[in-house]
Amino acid sequence: MHKKLLQAIKARKAKIGVVGLGYVGLPLALGFATKGFKTFGIDTSESKVAHLLKGKSYITDVADKEILTPVKKGTFYPTTDLSRIQECQAVIICVPTPIKRRYTPDISFMLSAVRSVAKNISKGTLVVLESTTYPGTTEELILPELEKSGLKVGKDIFLAFSPERIDPGNATHTVTRIPKVVGGMTPACNELTKALYSAITPLVHMVSSPSAAEMTKLLENTFRLINIGWVNEAAMMCKSFDIDVWEVIDAAKTKPFGFMPFYPGLGVGGHCIPEDPIYLYWKAKQRGCTSRFIKLSADVNAAMPDYAADRLKDLLAARGRKIKGARVLVLGVTYKKDVKDLRKSPPIKLIESLRKRGAVVSFHDPLVPYLDVDGLKIDGEALTSKMLAAQDYVVVAVDHTAVDYAFILKHAKAIFDLKNIYKGVSSKKITKL
Ligand SMILES: NC(=O)c1ccc[n+]([C@@H]2O[C@H](COP(=O)([O-])OP(=O)(O)OC[C@H]3O[C@@H](n4cnc5c(N)ncnc54)[C@H](O)[C@@H]3O)[C@@H](O)[C@H]2O)c1
Repeated sequence: MHKKLLQAIKARKAKIGVVGLGYVGLPLALGFATKGFKTFGIDTSESKVAHLLKGKSYITDVADKEILTPVKKGTFYPTTDLSRIQECQAVIICVPTPIKRRYTPDISFMLSAVRSVAKNISKGTLVVLESTTYPGTTEELILPELEKSGLKVGKDIFLAFSPERIDPGNATHTVTRIPKVVGGMTPACNELTKALYSAITPLVHMVSSPSAAEMTKLLENTFRLINIGWVNEAAMMCKSFDIDVWEVIDAAKTKPFGFMPFYPGLGVGGHCIPEDPIYLYWKAKQRGCTSRFIKLSADVNAAMPDYAADRLKDLLAARGRKIKGARVLVLGVTYKKDVKDLRKSPPIKLIESLRKRGAVVSFHDPLVPYLDVDGLKIDGEALTSKMLAAQDYVVVAVDHTAVDYAFILKHAKAIFDLKNIYKGVSSKKITKL
């Protein structure tokens, strides 16, 4: 059974279904479609599918033309119709894995997606889970749900886990250039999944089980959470010693081995780094294992917006101004540079923290015209000399490329630079994190 599918994959005749067309699923589906595979992009969101059918992108990294070309060619079919899974020989699940309450995973999207797959799956199909999740998910959650179809994994159908490693906003390391890690349930599952990803990526690295592949992704993301936590702590220490943390990082990174630079800021945001390690934390706790590193780093990072607000209060005081009633412009509100994503965005927390202290906060972001998140509704400001001059402080929270920082320096009274965007610029107006 699996040899037939293997041939179909190698000949690019296998039809692919990508379930969940977000930051991960859309570029992946287009990756297959542009390599000639007939690819169904399946999403429950009618508005996303309507956009795609018109060749319109809702993700910064994906250009309209990348969608329109395969839609017109007939290799990419966006749809909300989950029964199209019946026509697919390989189905890849890329749905969200958020946190439900503090420190508890919300597996409802994965459950609903796998149930749709089980309802529509045909014999001889390969299913791959890409959503970031705790070790054991594929075997303990996905496999029993799939086998409710009456089909046996390893015999009638095939199952593997392969974590997505996409880095939104990164134009160099795009989905088709990043090596894939794969762990299948059986040798046949491994062989098929390896063949599938080899069609679109430069390297497929096999591990011995789905759990090892799940843990690989969590090791990568937790590594970032912890190192960002440490560098934020180091930034606070450097401030107390009156040392420039940015200068220290630049010096440390001249070491050609054993060091990797991470940069301080308002903490971590987006769908991955703040949430994925919590999946690991939760699962490890069930096995009687507590991660002090994850908890500590998450707490240090979460405290950064309040730390920055307190620093700003002191900076204003040094200029004879109280934070209550002070006009503050936050520059950049997304969770990172050149990306539209507002999920878990630390600058939003900074705005809330400054407002709690009585500041009159406005914002500018070239990618976000207005804010409507967490009960916060504010229109973005246009960057004019008059508006800048009216602020008591400008806080550079995100270093988007499409901002004229020289213009801001010229017209702002004072700048609190959390991103070292003014590296090498000497001005009494600038204070760095
Ligand atoms: N965004 C990233 O940078 C990134 C990077 C690596 C891994 N991941 C992981 O990949 C997974 C997906 O993340 P994302 O950022 O693409 O999420 P997203 O929210 O951008 O997209 C998920 C999509 O799935 C759709 N969806 C939800 N339930 C569905 C269902 N039952 N059937 C069909 N469609 C459904 C939603 O409508 C949405 O369009 C998560 O586990 C995430 O942790 C994300």
